[in-house]
Amino acid sequence: MYHKNSGLIITIDGPAGAGKSTVARIIAQTLGYSYINTGDLYRYVTFCALKENLNVKKSEVMNALSKNIVDQFTKKHQHKQNLELFFEQNNIITDKIHSPDIDKNVSFVARHESVRRNLIPLQRLLAENRPIVMEGRDIGSVILPNADLKFFLMADEKTRTIRRYKELLKKGYHVNLQEVKSEIIKRDNLDSKREFSPLTIPKDAIIVDTSDKNINDVIKMVLRVVQGRENKYIENI
Ligand code: DC
Repeated sequence: MYHKNSGLIITIDGPAGAGKSTVARIIAQTLGYSYINTGDLYRYVTFCALKENLNVKKSEVMNALSKNIVDQFTKKHQHKQNLELFFEQNNIITDKIHSPDIDKNVSFVARHESVRRNLIPLQRLLAENRPIVMEGRDIGSVILPNADLKFFLMADEKTRTIRRYKELLKKGYHVNLQEVKSEIIKRDNLDSKREFSPLTIPKDAIIVDTSDKNINDVIKMVLRVVQGRENKYIENI
């Protein structure tokens, strides 16, 4: 379903606040790989739904909207693998899709089987023919099950709440810790208990608990594993 002509396909899954984005971005930068945060796709669908006052819990409505977004994206053929460029061209500042309002609604959008099915080919297209680090909830299990290396990042609830709280404060949102905590718990529940393609640990994933670890140490550890695998891969060509 997807091709690999050089470098590795790396997946990073895990719950909100486990450190996925920071780790995935830096790993990709360091290795010169592409980086895709698939959560941004679900966030973008949610952003468009809220902008048009659509009911995020209505499956048919979200099906039509997500289909439309995937069509728009695939039509812009020349930039087909650049998610950020696509968002920019549509005047979506990445910050807008990372607001508390989107946090509250995104898991309702991501629960619909139709939405997930619509986004599968697009995510595979984004990973086609290039070394990549792709992060999300079902990347190692459903989207790229044949990936070369799979990581599952996790952390305890308190650590994840504090990380998310600090991140929102830094962006200028006035939130309180309790609110952020209940939002994370609610999102975890919705993401891991949905019927279709829930958040699960892929059976061949390397599990990394980031709770008591400095994020730079996590990056170093992940990089060591990746570089070891890269060397093995080069030796076998
Ligand atoms: O990684 P994130 O917190 O930005 O993701 C936002 C939401 O999108 C998350 O609560 C669940 C959903 N999501 C998903 O269901 N599957 C993915 N592969 C990525 C994200």
